[in-house]
Amino acid sequence: MNAQVSGLSDDDRRPPSNELLEIAQRGLALKPKRLPSWLFYDERGSALFDEICEQPEYYLTRSEIVLMDEHAGNIADTLGSDVRLVEYGSGNARKTSMLLQHLHEPVAYVPVEISAEPLRESVERLGAEFPSLPVQPLCADFTKPLRLPIPPRAPRRTVVYFPGSTIGNFDNRDAAVLLRKMRNEMGDAGGILIGVDLKKDHAVIEAAYNDRAGVTSRFTLNMLTRLNRDIGSNFDLTAFRHRAHYNPMAGRIETHIVSAKSQQVKIGRANVAFREDEAIQVEYSCKYSLADFEALAAKAGLAVLRVWTDAQQMFSVQYLVRASTVAR
Ligand code: AVI
Repeated sequence: MNAQVSGLSDDDRRPPSNELLEIAQRGLALKPKRLPSWLFYDERGSALFDEICEQPEYYLTRSEIVLMDEHAGNIADTLGSDVRLVEYGSGNARKTSMLLQHLHEPVAYVPVEISAEPLRESVERLGAEFPSLPVQPLCADFTKPLRLPIPPRAPRRTVVYFPGSTIGNFDNRDAAVLLRKMRNEMGDAGGILIGVDLKKDHAVIEAAYNDRAGVTSRFTLNMLTRLNRDIGSNFDLTAFRHRAHYNPMAGRIETHIVSAKSQQVKIGRANVAFREDEAIQVEYSCKYSLADFEALAAKAGLAVLRVWTDAQQMFSVQYLVRASTVAR
């Protein structure tokens, strides 16, 4: 690891794995049944997500990379010099590198990631690519309050970087709560640089979550494999299928795991009954118009200062600041 990389700090707020059983029992007792989407991301789930990003139908990653390729210099100028960059869920180092290459005299890069191994890997890659950049990794759940490491020198501003449209995986209420938490962490002079997927032709959106190679289906069903391994449940993988539909009223992809038949599944000591076609809701992927996102930001006390999009207007990267700091 690079000399500038400080030790992994772990704020010990990750859910211990023995809570998984309780989380699964609680979610499967709901009507309709619901499990949290973070359960996708064990080692295999993270690898499958990387594979999704390569699928021809999954335009999000490609569009964001094209956008960053074109606008990273301008984005860096907008953020200004002496920035401390705090990345939430520092999965894909590629977009981060594109930004770091252009940042002026960054004070530190703080990747925040709940899984220690991907965090270590991304830190190693970026440490090698930017040898003089102080990297201060934090192994933590970014949805919980964070204890950010003390920076090596005073930053002019803290910018929370949240690429990939991961904000779309939170429903409107939770997204506003998360944005407000970022607002508190970045301070008065800070900002949020956030990737936001845009509304478009419904068929294009739906295809992105139903790729022909079936990678997204494997990603979705891997949640059951993970539960079988981690909590000893006995989901029969051949008796469940992936379903992802665009709900135009809500403006989001709704992903479900659907039971192909009437069946019982052992979860801990209890049996959970599934009717034929009964669904477990496992993920939302919200899509926004620019006006939708501006309204969401306003709910969190934020104003949109700049928006960059790719030429096809598939995806956007937006820069948000505290609404109280913007002259009207
Ligand atoms: C991580 N997140 C932004 C992805 C999305 O598009 O909602 C997760 C994903 N789920 C299925 N495909 C990709």
